[in-house]
Amino acid sequence: MAALLMGQVLLGRYANALERSPEKLNLMMWHKSIGISLLLLMSARLVWAWINPAPNPLPGTAAWVRSASRLSHAGLYGLVIAIPMSGWLMNSAKNIPFRLFRVVPWPNLLKPDAGLGRVFEFWHNQLVTLLLVLLCVHVAAALWHHFYRRDTTLKRMLGWQESP
Ligand code: HEM
Ligand code: HEM
Repeated sequence: MAALLMGQVLLGRYANALERSPEKLNLMMWHKSIGISLLLLMSARLVWAWINPAPNPLPGTAAWVRSASRLSHAGLYGLVIAIPMSGWLMNSAKNIPFRLFRVVPWPNLLKPDAGLGRVFEFWHNQLVTLLLVLLCVHVAAALWHHFYRRDTTLKRMLGWQESP
């Protein structure tokens, strides 16, 4: 899902910069279809994480590290849902008909409203920037645990080590 998410960022930026053309429409159809699929997968993942909470932090983890990780994980979960949702809302407000993978007619969530369409367009892009910043912090934290703290956080996440 992380790889698909990064692919979506590149595809969105690339397709958005193209002149209006059949190629642009085709790439946008893929961008929206993959984005909605990610939204459904991530919602399922969120339910999964709720039923199966993550293992406890390693013993001896400082309180500020626990808070920082809780806050940043909540931010990551929130963003991976809010980004495709803002895309869907933008598409709805702009009243652009769209079929998932060219097959399934996808419903609009809002009445047509060009002004609201621009608001969601702004947020769709801004939330991606926020995700990229938080992702840098997230990866830096994973590397900090692995190379500086020399604990098993990254190994546990990758399934290479059982949780204590
Ligand atoms: C995982 C999900 C998604 C990511 C990471 C993502 C990311 C992006 C990015 C980076 C852009 C380029 C913005 C710019 O250059 O200004 C973009 C554009 C766009 N995205 Fe998404 N997107 C996602 C899902 C969706 C979904 C589900 C839809 C609609 C159903 C959608 C509709 C659009 C549209 C219509 C544009 C063009 C914006 C415009 O008209 O200016 N996106 N997206
Ligand atoms: C778009 C990419 C990514 C997203 C959205 C993401 C999201 C998340 C989320 C939400 C959690 C918390 C899981 C939970 O507690 O339920 C998590 C945990 C974790 N992630 Fe990522 N992640 C991404 C990429 C990465 C990468 C590239 C690495 C490795 C360098 C990584 C390493 C970890 C580790 C080690 C944990 C476990 C933290 C712990 O046990 O406290 N993640 N990630």
